[in-house]
Parts: sequence; structure tokens; C-alpha cells
Amino acid sequence: MIKADISRARKFLTDQEFIYAHSLATKGLEDLRQRTGLGSEWLGWRDLLEKPNSDLVARLTKLGKKIHSSADVFIVCGIGGSYLGAKAVIDALKPPFTSNGPEILFAGHHMSGAYLNDLLLYLKTSKADGSRKSVVLNVISKSGSTLETALSFRVLRKFIYEEFDDAAERIICTTNERGGLLNDVIDEAGYQKFIIPSDIGGRFSVLTPVGLLPIAVAGISIEELFEGAVSNYKVLEENADVVVEYAALRNALHNKGITIDIFTSFEPELLSFGKWIQQLLGESEGKDGKGIFPTVAGFSTDLHSLGQFIQDGTRSLLETFLVVDQVATQLSVPSGLDFGDGLEYLEGDSFHSINSKAESGTIEAHSEGQVPIVTIHLPELSAKYIGALIYFYEVLTGVFVYSLGINPFNQPGVEDYKKAMFRLLGK
Ligand code: PA5
Repeated sequence: MIKADISRARKFLTDQEFIYAHSLATKGLEDLRQRTGLGSEWLGWRDLLEKPNSDLVARLTKLGKKIHSSADVFIVCGIGGSYLGAKAVIDALKPPFTSNGPEILFAGHHMSGAYLNDLLLYLKTSKADGSRKSVVLNVISKSGSTLETALSFRVLRKFIYEEFDDAAERIICTTNERGGLLNDVIDEAGYQKFIIPSDIGGRFSVLTPVGLLPIAVAGISIEELFEGAVSNYKVLEENADVVVEYAALRNALHNKGITIDIFTSFEPELLSFGKWIQQLLGESEGKDGKGIFPTVAGFSTDLHSLGQFIQDGTRSLLETFLVVDQVATQLSVPSGLDFGDGLEYLEGDSFHSINSKAESGTIEAHSEGQVPIVTIHLPELSAKYIGALIYFYEVLTGVFVYSLGINPFNQPGVEDYKKAMFRLLGK
């Protein structure tokens, strides 16, 4: 399944420090399992895997396939937990240059009028054969009232009504069972609706219709994804040592003054997955003056921007590498021309082996630069292991944040910017 190697970071801790943090993490796991921790009414993301709803997964698969084969553009309109999970999985598993299936575009994740304007122009531009693009819109908002999403939905809804006779059939809503302005709109217009269970918070909702519908539309098997998560749930219910040790490590490093965790990968497909982890951990642990600030870097790209700081700057960093052990596509360095580029020593080598050596070299150098390093290993980049990785980080988040003595499942601080914004907007 998913493996975590914490040995390179563990050496920065004394046995006493680690053992103390381990006892806190063990208690965190128990609180999660027994539902005795803070915010235990938000544990629906575990129930989802304990009692899988295969009918719902089958229904979403069927709808996803229908849209996959009929739409040119599928727009996911949502912010935070209402889009990051879908984007993480799609970017990890959908080939970047395929013409298979609709383009998946995102909106509602900011309030840039320029972006929306360009999006409308693009949607209105005909296809190469002169015909109109077929557009399907999925608005996703648990509260049904988030400003970024609601504003974009208004713009896109108007576009859909102006362009298509079957407008109402092109709009799919994912939201709470009841309550919220979006539910009023759905009742009025009769849009197709999927429910976000009330006991699952936004950042834990990727394995609900929030993430599953867009992922299925992208042509990815949500059955395999879900099954991967269920398998890892079972594995970790049996023995969660890997999670407890990882949570203990983060707890002890936090106490020793580590303030930043850089999530990175040498596989660019996993950059958006890092963003999903960033939100999952960030909104869960960053409270009461505590937490390790999660951030994301893509390697080797960002070694040419952040590498200097990581190697040599303020020593307050933890670095977490998402490592893919086996890569399916093998491209080798070509030979046969007089290239004159000095790369003869690499001729015939696969890009995977070159990338892996760059990864090992970076880990070695950063370790020597006194950066604690964790490596998280996926056997391969597949729906099954991405599903497993999703649950791995969900449970790690719960256990680690409990070990800090914080409620992982609320986000009171997010309300402050909204209050100030709405006051300035005159709401
Ligand atoms: O994790 C969370 O709860 C948040 O990030 C929400 O997902 C985000 O604020 C969007 O909220 P909503 O789905 O209500 O529009």
C-alpha cells in the first residue's frame, strides 16, 4: 500500500522526544477511532469507507461516462474542498495532452472577472468544424452560499441559458441535503442534484460526489479510486503504526520549531495533489497559534527557485517527498544524431531513471543541509493508489491534529476574511 519512510527526519529527534509525541499520536488515533475527540461529529469520511455506497459510485460512473462521451467542456465551479480534490486526482491520472473526453475547466475558485470573461469567450468559440461547444456545468458548494462560487455560477448559468435550449439539463449541483441558497435555486429550476453528507467537511469530501463526479467525467475509474481508499482504510484499521509514527514525527518536529512542511514530488502530475494536502492539513492544523505551514513545490522545477533556500536558508523546514516507485511510460534519451549537446553519457537511459537519480541526489543533499525529510511511496500512479493516498492523508491529518490538542474539523479563522470582505461590499 502506501509506505512512509521517516528515518531521515527521525534522526533530528531524541528517543525521549519521539516517544512522548508517539504517546500523543496514539491517543489521537484512539480518539479518532472511538469518536471521543473534538469535532467527532465530522467523521463521515471514515463511515464512507466502512460502509461503501456502491450504488452511488455506480450511478456517478454512469453519469460520468455519459458526459465524458457527449460534452466538449465540463466546468467544475467550486472553491477549497469543493474543487481541490477533483483537480488533484484528475491532474494525477488524466494524461495532460489527451483529446479523449471533455476538457475539464475550473471556475468559482477566485473572483477574477478577467478569467471569467476569457472563459466565456473560449466557451463561445466554435470548434474546428464550426459547431458549438457542448458545455456541462457542475456547481459544487456545501454551504451553497460561498461568494466566489456563487458569483461564477451566476455568470456561467446566464451563459448556459443564453446558449442552450436544454439549459437546465446541463447544470448539475452538488450541495448539502437541505438549506442554503443553492438548494432554493435547485428546487426552483429542477437541476439534477448530488448530496454532500452533512457529517463530511469540504476538505474531506473528495470521495463523495464533490470529487467523484468530475473525476468520473475525466474518464478515471472512480470504482478503482474508491476501492483503493477502502482497501487502505481496512489496512490501517488493522495496523496504523505507519500513520501514528508519521504523526508523532510531525508533532515532535513541530515542538522543536519546525514551522514549514514543503510537499514536493519529482512527478509533475502530483503537484495538484500537493495542493490538496496543503488545504487538508493547513485548514485542519493551523489554529490556536499552532501548526506546521504546509506548502508545495514541484521538483526539479523549483530546485531552480527554492533549492537554494531549502539547502542553505533558515533551518525551520520539513520536506515531504511524494515518490512514485514505478512509472509506466518509459522514454529514453535518444541517440542517432550528431547532437553536440554533451549528453552522450545519458544516451539510452530512461527519463525515469534520470529523474529518480535527481530525486535521490536532492534527498541526499538536503539531508546533508540538515533538512528533516519524509518520503511517502506510491507503488505506481494509478487510481487505486491515489485512492489509498487520499485516505492515508485524511487519517494522518486527524491523528496528527488531535495530537496537537486541536479540533481538526473546523476552520473558524476562514470566517474573518469573509466578515471584512462582506462589510466592504456592503452586504
Ligand atoms: O474545507 C472546507 O470546508 C472549505 O475549504 C470549503 O470546502 C470551501 O470554503 C468551500 O465551501 P463551500 O463548499 O461551502 O462553498
